[in-house]
Amino acid sequence: MTKKIFLTGASSGIGRHLAGEFAAAGHDLAICARRESLLTELCETLRQRFPKCHIVSFGLDVTNYERVADVMKQAQIELNGLDTVIVNAGIDKAGKIGSGNFNNDRQVVETNVLGAMATIDAAVALFRPLNHGHIVVMASVAAFCGLPGMASYAASKAAIASYAQSARFELQKKGIKVTTLYPGFIDTAINQNIASRPFLVTVEQGSRKIAQLIEREVSESAVPAFPWKIVGWLLRNLPNWLLVRILKAQH
Ligand SMILES: NC(=O)c1ccc[n+]([C@@H]2O[C@H](COP(=O)([O-])OP(=O)(O)OC[C@H]3O[C@@H](n4cnc5c(N)ncnc54)[C@H](OP(=O)(O)O)[C@@H]3O)[C@@H](O)[C@H]2O)c1
Repeated sequence: MTKKIFLTGASSGIGRHLAGEFAAAGHDLAICARRESLLTELCETLRQRFPKCHIVSFGLDVTNYERVADVMKQAQIELNGLDTVIVNAGIDKAGKIGSGNFNNDRQVVETNVLGAMATIDAAVALFRPLNHGHIVVMASVAAFCGLPGMASYAASKAAIASYAQSARFELQKKGIKVTTLYPGFIDTAINQNIASRPFLVTVEQGSRKIAQLIEREVSESAVPAFPWKIVGWLLRNLPNWLLVRILKAQH
């Protein structure tokens, strides 16, 4: 069945590749990000490759919270409906706590938490009267455990995963599904300056797995499921003294 998909963070990395996966599957797309020139170029490429797909693009900064709902409504009009909203826009600005990085930390929370909440809120408002819809939230394995050197990122992903879980419980009898994904290291700009990236997968591999999980409308999953489901369990359940040793060995 052809779906109409609203996707944030589509100008690069996972979002850009997801757009390609969904266009190849015949879905219509509204793609958003701040770098409009990259979106325009992506739109052109996808329209040429998949002429049957209806693809529109919007310059959108998700920290412009009020505008998120307006753009989503406009996308709904231009695509003649919306079935799926993918909350993918995100940033990381690594830095140690107490080393003058608070402004960076604030931007991470504004984008990954408040921007994502604004997107989910707009989607639910749009889907509720229809008793239909699917919301996908891009968390991270960093949500499983507070990690050294990326405190604000880990905290932001734990927060949005918790918010998505609340949304799933609130909406389960309303015909609206909520998927939370916890990707491990996927090779994109967001982590290319991190020294250690265990179990790294290419952006093509990672995005394909993510697209498959979205099509299956799973409630939640690590990506790829192996080994991150096991690592996630360990991160949540190992005693603190052992975690300290393991994380020290990584840094
Ligand atoms: N790669 C990984 O290993 C990994 C692992 C776990 C989770 N994730 C999550 O996956 C998502 C996509 O990340 P990625 O790996 O594809 O990184 P990326 O290549 O840096 O892509 C991030 C995307 O988010 C957009 N974005 C950032 N700030 C925005 C804002 N204020 N408003 C609108 N769009 C904004 C960027 O577009 P503009 O700059 O053009 O706005 C870009 O398209 C993020 O939420 C990230 O946390 C990634």
